[in-house]
Amino acid sequence: MALLQVWPKSSLHLLVFAIMLSGAPGIIWIEPPDPVITPGGNLLVNCSTDCDQPQLIGLETQLDKTQEDKGVRWSTFLLRNITQDTLLLCFVNCLGKDQMLHNTTVTVIRLPENVQLEPLPPWILVGQNFILRCQVWGGKPRQNLTMALLRGPQELSRQAVSEQDLGKAAEVTFTATASREDHGANFSCRAELDLSAQGLGPYQKSSTPKELHTFALGTPRLTAPNLLEVGKEETVSCEIDELFPVENAQIHLSLGRRSLNSTVKRGQDTLRATAPVAIAEGEREGQRQLTCSVILGDQNREVQRNLTVYKSSRDPVPIVTGVLLALGLAVLAWGIAMLYFRQNLRRDSYTPQPLPLQHLAPMARPEPGPEPGNLGLGQ
Ligand SMILES: *[C@@H]1O[C@H](CO)[C@@H](O)[C@H](O)[C@H]1NC(C)=O
Ligand SMILES: *[C@@H]1O[C@H](CO)[C@@H](O)[C@H](O)[C@H]1NC(C)=O
Ligand SMILES: *[C@@H]1O[C@H](CO)[C@@H](O)[C@H](O)[C@H]1NC(C)=O
Ligand SMILES: *[C@@H]1O[C@H](CO)[C@@H](O)[C@H](O)[C@H]1NC(C)=O
Ligand SMILES: *[C@@H]1O[C@H](CO)[C@@H](O)[C@H](O)[C@H]1NC(C)=O
Repeated sequence: MALLQVWPKSSLHLLVFAIMLSGAPGIIWIEPPDPVITPGGNLLVNCSTDCDQPQLIGLETQLDKTQEDKGVRWSTFLLRNITQDTLLLCFVNCLGKDQMLHNTTVTVIRLPENVQLEPLPPWILVGQNFILRCQVWGGKPRQNLTMALLRGPQELSRQAVSEQDLGKAAEVTFTATASREDHGANFSCRAELDLSAQGLGPYQKSSTPKELHTFALGTPRLTAPNLLEVGKEETVSCEIDELFPVENAQIHLSLGRRSLNSTVKRGQDTLRATAPVAIAEGEREGQRQLTCSVILGDQNREVQRNLTVYKSSRDPVPIVTGVLLALGLAVLAWGIAMLYFRQNLRRDSYTPQPLPLQHLAPMARPEPGPEPGNLGLGQ
């Protein structure tokens, strides 16, 4: 820099002129420019130049090479059994010029070796987003490696991988929304190494497919009386809609810990259970919990309701009758007691007290017969 600064401008022009005198800078090519090869493969390399009179065209490499063919401005070499990435250096010794060099690297591909789809949640709610994570080992060059997500044979999405370190697995994630159509479908990932530009591949490797289960599940609704009379049969039912897939769902009705013997009807997206319910005589009164549960895959929906168990209102009737009966008996007992008392009075009291006798006399005596005069009929 300092040197240039002290040089006069005219000197610079002279320098450029001197370079031009020595001839145009030579050009050298390598064909193919970015060679890619399968492991153990052979490669034909063509080194060529625009030098008018090349004295020597050569190829420097660690690989075994043989010259195959040559023209005035080109030379071809055959490289055998290439097992790893190797630097290739073409050089040309051109008369009156510096040696010209051009290099490239032959890339040995690595097939995608192991493709994995991370396990999916066993059941996914319809409409919910879920993530599919795919990993691939191997697959080189990574910039030509893509990963596709498939549902059955259908490709849903494709992404290039970003991880360039071959020591690590390349991972891509896909976000999908669960639909009913996804239920029972087999999802898989497919890694693809596409080197068609180099006349190779595409090389594909797929993961083992994983079956997806999607579901929809509403809230069950219970229909039942609030009161349950001991000894009387009632019907309870439970229905759930927005249910998918209906064929995988089960519905149960139970009262307390007792499972009810229900009749189940499956509809298009619905499931309905109906069961008779009865509390046997002698069972306790009070609250019982009626439960309806719907099971679908690893999902469970439950609703509960309290039923009040009571004894029939016929119960108070016998009590009243009993009371009346007791009253009647009491009255009867009193009557008998009175009778007994009176007989005792007659039998035992030889000196009856005048007052009670007089008092009792009208009661003990039979009703006096009707006396027209007494009744005042003559009036
Ligand atoms: C090598 O490359 C040169 C320049 O492109 C071409 O003229 C020549 O035919 C090539 N040789 C072979 C064997 O392909
Ligand atoms: C290719 O090279 C590898 C190691 O570089 C060697 O083990 C193998 O025997 C070679 N194969 C042939 C056919 O020469
Ligand atoms: C998904 O794969 C399983 C087992 O691999 C198979 O039984 C099932 O039929 C497949 N499902 C579809 C829709 O192809
Ligand atoms: C492979 O990747 C390189 C670099 O990104 C690109 O130039 C080339 O076209 C790719 N080949 C194919 C077949 O996609
Ligand atoms: C049912 O009754 C129990 C007490 O017997 C109570 O704890 C519970 O909250 C009630 N459940 C409902 C759904 O009313």
